[in-house]
Amino acid sequence: MGLRRLEYRGYDSVGMALRTTGGDIARLRTTGRIGALEALLDDWAGPRFDGAGIGHTRWATHGAVTEGNAHPHVDCAGQISLVHNGIVENAASLRAELDRAGHTFVTTVDSEVLCHLIEDERRRGTDLVRALQNALARVHGSWALAVLEQGSGRIIVAAKGSPLVVGHTAEGDFAASDIAAIADWVDEYRVLGDGDIVELARPDSWRRGGIVIPPPALTRCPWRGRDVELNGYTDYMAKEIDEQPEAAARVLDELADGIANGALWEQLNLPPFERLRVIGCGTSLNAGNVLANLARRLGGVPTTTVSGSEAAQEVPDTAQLVVAMSQSGETADVLRGVQTGAVGISPVLALTNNPQSTLARLADAVVGSSAGPEIGVAATKTFICQVISAAALMISALVGMNRVSARSAAALVDDLRRVPDQLAAASAVAKCVIPPLVDQFAAEAGFIFIGRGLGLPYAAEGALKLKELTYRWAEHYPAGELKHGPLALVGVGTPVIVIDNGDPKLAGNVAEVRARGGHVITVGCAGGAIPVVDDPAAPWGPIAATVPLQILARTMALALGRDVDKPRNLAKSVTVE
Ligand code: G6P
Repeated sequence: MGLRRLEYRGYDSVGMALRTTGGDIARLRTTGRIGALEALLDDWAGPRFDGAGIGHTRWATHGAVTEGNAHPHVDCAGQISLVHNGIVENAASLRAELDRAGHTFVTTVDSEVLCHLIEDERRRGTDLVRALQNALARVHGSWALAVLEQGSGRIIVAAKGSPLVVGHTAEGDFAASDIAAIADWVDEYRVLGDGDIVELARPDSWRRGGIVIPPPALTRCPWRGRDVELNGYTDYMAKEIDEQPEAAARVLDELADGIANGALWEQLNLPPFERLRVIGCGTSLNAGNVLANLARRLGGVPTTTVSGSEAAQEVPDTAQLVVAMSQSGETADVLRGVQTGAVGISPVLALTNNPQSTLARLADAVVGSSAGPEIGVAATKTFICQVISAAALMISALVGMNRVSARSAAALVDDLRRVPDQLAAASAVAKCVIPPLVDQFAAEAGFIFIGRGLGLPYAAEGALKLKELTYRWAEHYPAGELKHGPLALVGVGTPVIVIDNGDPKLAGNVAEVRARGGHVITVGCAGGAIPVVDDPAAPWGPIAATVPLQILARTMALALGRDVDKPRNLAKSVTVE
């Protein structure tokens, strides 16, 4: 059950190593999903399991998706079983050295070198904790890992640059890369810091950088396992789309009182800024572009947005605030981005759905986006909550820096409070109009999304959702840019989805598409095919357009037989660069 809750991290293969009462290790692995692993467990005819075990669900980086490459991996003697999230950057050189020393590798996965490094240490008689420490000292990269030793049944876990938590209960000790996996059993947990190593059931063994330290403080578990159940829905995406009005209202309940008086900003204790740089990836980058537009439009703040993986290219700027957007707070590209020299000299504010995350710990200040657990791999309610919390934060900051009056801000808060109802109304409209559109367009090979100004990040999010879920080409362009190249893609019947935020110049761009026979579907203001936006002047843009775009992507994906919660090749939280 715990592994099922981690499947969002990757689902190329899944496996477990379980100690039996006979003292052996049973290793069960499959390239199927969790159900296939459960079937292997049901068919297990060997001795009973003794309660010690490790498991893993994989998103392939090194090595093809095969059962042989599935975790757990083992050393030559089969004594050390190991599961690993992260990456061993110097795997090739370590592998060559271990090869020369007589170790036999059976996979192409970088993680396997860890097993053999530990094996070497154990052969020299080094204690298991110290053996792991010495092995990791030779590794460049990141890890959240668990080692199970056959003979002793001991389990040691370690983390660096990848999340890992441990919890102690009357039923035993647990470790997981996300608290959601063990929330059914654990009320409180401890978060491993960078370089930590600890043996389960022995908190006095906690080491950081090789030195024994007191165990870190306990954190209360924010939710129960049932919060992440389907509760009657056929898929998590449908559930999470429907949860958006309630989630948006919750974010506003938490933040709205601190907007017009600037208190939300003041309590972060950050210095005033002249420029803003927003960092994120995927959907979070789209939410970051909404924030950027708002900062420019309302506050006249020069703002740039950058993908986490490109942040190192930026020029250092001492007068800027960096806002790092990440729902998980664990995306390696974002974590590395905020630590690069170009960015790291600025104050960093994390806007995340996970205030316990690595990003939150790295940042100078944190604002939560309070979407609650999101299981569907394609982000839905976390995007909406990021946009709302980003808007609340930036309006508050602009009040705090005297760039927006308290009176204007109060009017904006009233407008923000209307968003949950706008989302609910948009959902009702979309559920009527989208299915016939999908019948019409499901066979199309490609889709173009266009928007202008405040509408553009929503066009980007619509295209991202469609490609993630349907595996069809879907790209977004500034509507004015279409004529400078992408218009060549438009032929008779090509679907072009227009995010209409009331910009009068859109009409000309739509005419250019229609003149080539393109099929225009307008999402936004009254008069279009999907009229869901009644507040086009809001500085956060046509947020309600998000809902029909999500429903379009989901409905088309289902029509094409796709798994909407687990799109191919993707993972919800990508902890490698
Ligand atoms: C992955 C997911 C995307 C997500 C992105 C950023 O690529 O597939 O859906 O938007 O990571 O995730 P974050 O947790 O940083 O918001």
